[in-house]
Amino acid sequence: MTVPYARLQRLRHTQSIRELVSETKLHPSDFVMPVFVKETGTEPVEVSSMPGIYQHTLASVLQHVEELVSHQINAILLFGIPAEKDPHAHEAYNENGIVQQAIRLIRNTFPDLIIMADCCLCEYTSHGHCGIMVNNTLDNDATLTVLQKIAVSYAKAGADVIAPSGMMDGMIQALRHALEETNFKQVSLMSYSAKYPSSFYGPFRDAAGSDGFQGNRKHHQMNPGQRREAFQEALQDVQESADIIMVKPALPYLDIIRDLRSTVHTPIAAYQVSGEYSMIKYSAKAGLLNEDDAILETLTCIKRAGADIIISYFAQDIWRLV
Ligand code: PBG
Repeated sequence: MTVPYARLQRLRHTQSIRELVSETKLHPSDFVMPVFVKETGTEPVEVSSMPGIYQHTLASVLQHVEELVSHQINAILLFGIPAEKDPHAHEAYNENGIVQQAIRLIRNTFPDLIIMADCCLCEYTSHGHCGIMVNNTLDNDATLTVLQKIAVSYAKAGADVIAPSGMMDGMIQALRHALEETNFKQVSLMSYSAKYPSSFYGPFRDAAGSDGFQGNRKHHQMNPGQRREAFQEALQDVQESADIIMVKPALPYLDIIRDLRSTVHTPIAAYQVSGEYSMIKYSAKAGLLNEDDAILETLTCIKRAGADIIISYFAQDIWRLV
């Protein structure tokens, strides 16, 4: 019998040797925590489908951010839940809208925090679609004009990064133009470039207060089977001057993360979405898996696939896991 001299297990024997040779390491600075702020109510409310995630008030959001910062999380992604919705999403670009207020407040208290803001109409439209509807159809170009107003109002409030999530054609070019024109030249654009109309967004509907939405987003988000189209979307966004390219959801689309990592040279962000979060939470509650192990495994695999930035509701747990 030949002796197997090539024993790969040599470098797996102890925790410290595994760490020494580890190819993929997670650090709190890799992460962005999504944060929900609501205009109504005086108390934070836990999202029923996302244990541990809250819709914050302006008062409670400061406390939440303080805790994140104390755990070395340097970036948040804001979502707003307005008191009023209408077909044209007016509240989304109200200078005193909930997100604009939250940005100003957080910016004042945490000057070094990276404040990102989701830029879409769906939380602000009464019909729940991501854009302006004309004859029951989403009007891409009319939507761009509204997105420009939203982005400029976020920049004025003090956002560092605007994250357009609606998959509108030409959105990066339109937003960049609006930001340059208003002299917000340092504001970055993180494009939800390869975004798929995923069933894993289910719990987000509760979190963002858009649980009444009836339709779907298949006519503007990408079909899950599309790979080549993801290259087209990403290359187009880079050409239009996106600073960061995003793939969303994360785990079912690791191949797309890898593809884009080797295609574009901007940082790549991956969004581990609400359903990916709740799936782990509820499975752990049912005793099906170990929650911390599942969190670490999924996040490590997302980074291994090529993500430089991970947007995850587990960002708030990272400090005790790595
Ligand atoms: C759209 C938006 C969505 C999410 C982030 N931004 C919902 C959608 O596209 O249907 C989902 C995030 C999550 O599920 O965690 N503004």
